[in-house]
Amino acid sequence: MSTVVALDMGSSAIAGVEVKSSRDRVSLTKAAVEPIAPGLLQDGEIRQPSELAAELKRFWKTHRFSGKKVRLGVANQRVLVRTIELPVLENPAELRAAVQFEAGEHIPIPVDESVVDYQPVMRYSGDDGERERLVVVAAYRDMIDTLVSVVRAAGLQPVGIDLEAFALLRALLPAPSVVDEGSTDTPAQAVVHVGAEVTNVIVAVDRKCHFTRLVNFGGSHLTTAVADRTGLSSEEAEAVKQACGLLGQPLEGWDSDTVAEVRHALALGARPLVREVARCLDYYRSQPFARPIDRLIVTGGTSLCTGIDRYLQQGIGMRVEVGDPLGQLDHDGGVAGDIAARSAVALGLALDGER
Ligand SMILES: Nc1ncnc2c1ncn2[C@@H]1O[C@H](COP(=O)(O)OP(=O)(O)OP(=O)(O)O)[C@@H](O)[C@H]1O
Ligand SMILES: [Mg+2]
Repeated sequence: MSTVVALDMGSSAIAGVEVKSSRDRVSLTKAAVEPIAPGLLQDGEIRQPSELAAELKRFWKTHRFSGKKVRLGVANQRVLVRTIELPVLENPAELRAAVQFEAGEHIPIPVDESVVDYQPVMRYSGDDGERERLVVVAAYRDMIDTLVSVVRAAGLQPVGIDLEAFALLRALLPAPSVVDEGSTDTPAQAVVHVGAEVTNVIVAVDRKCHFTRLVNFGGSHLTTAVADRTGLSSEEAEAVKQACGLLGQPLEGWDSDTVAEVRHALALGARPLVREVARCLDYYRSQPFARPIDRLIVTGGTSLCTGIDRYLQQGIGMRVEVGDPLGQLDHDGGVAGDIAARSAVALGLALDGER
């Protein structure tokens, strides 16, 4: 039995999960989400390291996760992702060297300031022999160092850092069957994880990431839209946003004009989300290797906004479903849906992706 703990530090909250795996079972044994003070992280980047370390220490003490080892995720504008193509290289050292070189060519981060990682996407036959498509991730080293030092300052030991997009795919999509994997008929699926300040847009085929981009939009922008329109404080606007949702039935005990006003503000406020997601999907579709996109799965705290699936479906013109981050587990530990939606990244970080 192995135990893995993973943490996702967002601008509004820290999410942590503990997953126990045996040969044939993967169980979620703990999941917690705690709000943190605003401003410690901004747009996915750590702004106040020592305050964040103190919050993390408190989080750990309150929830008593096993051991000290934690897996971490990153998603911000200081980590860049590109697709590259190379001749097939079976020797891992040669492949790594070639990826490093290509990263230097394609990703605008100075080589000596970056940390590079990659994931194979697919092999194909080109005019000049067998080639391999890979997704290359390059992050500013100082951003990674800050993350590691915050976690160490909280008394914990980081044991792996992954791109949040890769983690989300492991949490939300089943592993492809051996029979189907690599089939050129398999459609793509989009995942849109909307947090408080940022949105991760991902397009995947066979659970492999073919495209990802981080958009600076989240639920805090919706709260601001409500506050601006109604004159409520941001705490009040947050509460009415959560109560009313984007679309839905009249609310018992609420004045119908107020509900209509809030929903109208949310519908206007969410337009940039539709625009940016549509732009990302258009970009993906313009690539020579693009597949038709079958559906869009929405997660993250903002996926709890009632009607966001229908709103996105109308705006983007494709099937939209609210994702189930617990779907790949044998036992979900009875975790509530709102905790699950906000723990999708942490859950994916804790999963190894073998199934
Ligand atoms: N029931 C709800 N209805 C609407 N929005 C909700 C609801 N519950 C939570 N949210 C929104 O979800 C957001 C928090 O989501 P999440 O925990 O995924 O963000 P985060 O990881 O802290 O932020 P980020 O990743 O963007 O830095 C907040 O903006 C909050 O208003
Ligand atoms: Mg988040």
